[in-house]
Amino acid sequence: MNIRPRRNRKSAGVRDLVRETTLTTNDLLLPLFLLEDRKACVPVASMPGIDRLGMDLLLPEIESCLKLGIKAFDVFPVVPESYKDKMATYSYADENFYNKALAEIKHHFPEAVIMTDVAMDPYSSDGHDGIVENGRILNDETLEVLGKMALSQAQAGADIIGPSDMMDGRVGYIRTVLDDHGFTDVSIMSYTAKYASGFYGPFRDALDSAPKFGDKKTYQMDPANRLEALREAMLDTEEGADFLMVKPALAYLDVIRLLKDNSDLPIAAYNVSGEYAMIKAAAMQGWLDYDRVMMESLLSIKRAGADIILTYFAKDAAQILKNA
Ligand code: PBG
Repeated sequence: MNIRPRRNRKSAGVRDLVRETTLTTNDLLLPLFLLEDRKACVPVASMPGIDRLGMDLLLPEIESCLKLGIKAFDVFPVVPESYKDKMATYSYADENFYNKALAEIKHHFPEAVIMTDVAMDPYSSDGHDGIVENGRILNDETLEVLGKMALSQAQAGADIIGPSDMMDGRVGYIRTVLDDHGFTDVSIMSYTAKYASGFYGPFRDALDSAPKFGDKKTYQMDPANRLEALREAMLDTEEGADFLMVKPALAYLDVIRLLKDNSDLPIAAYNVSGEYAMIKAAAMQGWLDYDRVMMESLLSIKRAGADIILTYFAKDAAQILKNA
């Protein structure tokens, strides 16, 4: 044998030299759940280790993440049921505590990259991402709400707007609204290939945002489809997206690679709540080594082609990377 692949694995030093993929804190974006009550801290039962936080606790949490090298955050509001209505009007209301919190976060940490979520579901009494009429989700009428929501988030100081609703044409619509109001510098990270997935379960527990009837299959993508992701990517790119996202991540590594190979935009992957819960639960049973499996999963997402990973593991991973 003149060719022996094991030679390149013979020591830690050689393995370090030939490693093809590396994970750093620059790749990580941490999702956070915001409560209205400033002093509140409410754990998410299905996501052990993750708490919903009021601003008095969220600000120090962001500070400690920044110290660990995590610079980017995606904030999601837990909206009280009494604020919800069919048209999600609270999402752009003046008194909206989420937008006030975004402004406060940017005031304290101007260097942090703050991403927001644009979709009606946390504010909708129907629990859907669009306006519901006779059991159907209206597309074009929903765009108007999304535009108002995105604009109010941009006014609050958001760096990146994240439309997670999967309505047709929303990236272009939001881009126009932002530009018309002078927010040409505000980015859009489009949830390009967002699948109708069972892996969002714990997130919907966290926000209490599950659909009140039916499912999201008329707008989120069929898990069986790959080419459709390319089509969505083409549209989002033409409409002016700055980043393309695939969601979930681990069950869709092939889709991440597909977009990476077919786009010159940065590709993000959302390592979702159910993916976090699976690893956490098995680790708590002592069935898996948490640190090892977490880092291996994140590395796999990166290897598949993700430039950015939205993950609830960000803080734990940053701690490990710091000690490495
Ligand atoms: C809202 C939204 C969802 C997630 C992010 N934004 C849930 C959904 O579409 O039902 C899921 C995130 C996760 O599971 O971690 N449109």
